[in-house]
Amino acid sequence: MGKGSGYGKVILFGEHFVVHGVSGVVSATDAKTDAEVKKAIKGLTINDERTGSKGYAQEKQLQQIESIQRMLKAIGMPADTAMTIWIGGNLPGFSGLGASAASSVAIARAISEEFDLKLSDEKINAVAYEAEKAYAGNPSGIDNTAATYGGLMWFRKNLKGGADLVEKITIKKPVEIVIGSTGKVANTKAMVEGVAQRKQANPQKYNALFKRAEEVAIEGRTALEEGDLEKVGELMNENHTLLQGIEVSSKELELLVEIARKQGAYGAKLTGGGGGGCITALTPGKALQEKVAAAIEKEGFQVLRTKIGVLKKS
Ligand code: MEV
Repeated sequence: MGKGSGYGKVILFGEHFVVHGVSGVVSATDAKTDAEVKKAIKGLTINDERTGSKGYAQEKQLQQIESIQRMLKAIGMPADTAMTIWIGGNLPGFSGLGASAASSVAIARAISEEFDLKLSDEKINAVAYEAEKAYAGNPSGIDNTAATYGGLMWFRKNLKGGADLVEKITIKKPVEIVIGSTGKVANTKAMVEGVAQRKQANPQKYNALFKRAEEVAIEGRTALEEGDLEKVGELMNENHTLLQGIEVSSKELELLVEIARKQGAYGAKLTGGGGGGCITALTPGKALQEKVAAAIEKEGFQVLRTKIGVLKKS
């Protein structure tokens, strides 16, 4: 049997904008998706035992099958390769946490082990990018990159098709964050397409928002590296305003952002594709993290308490 894992992720700056070549900042979560793959005699069986958002696995089932077929093609294996796949791990199936990319990386690694392919991390990342197209249509590659390598990183998609720019970001010490889930499964592909359509229809408005998004990402990276967490929080708030501008927020996301800010989070924004999914709030220190997390839970939403900037052991 082959085994593999992939990290979840939280985007601190730049979701959606990164699809169009704007820079972004992403952190892997400690929580991971694990996969096991075993050769079979006939057919593809998927046992998806991930916990989290109700309906996540069912809603994404067709996209999941397509993603595995894309993955096999990218590896150079027949699309009808018979195998049994188990998916689990401690990454909740919240929409917005990069669960699809984490599972693609985990499955690709498990296939590599089971079929003795010895795929490099670079190849795993490329294979997971192909798989992500099933979920996101035109993905930037930020999710699979975070899922493959882990850590805190700076990302810029190469729109010409070459290697993306990926740089490690180092911060003085890990910082607590809260991830709050609306419980709504979002269709990333539809959200990404919607932004592209509105951008084309309204270039003047969108170009100004995209220009500011690049500046916010650059300022956010500097503030993170300098340990200026108040500034990081302010910029996360501004990033959220930009995301409202491109119309990817929702009533529930607004509610969660408001609760987090009211409880004293340094900043809060939607994270990932929006339209449902998750928010993330910057909550330095255990006490503030707990205060914000508890307030969100009190309103009946699920949360994940985690940290950014944790050094990976790899
Ligand atoms: C999804 O986690 C992030 C998006 O920017 C899509 C992508 O970058 O592929 C919405």
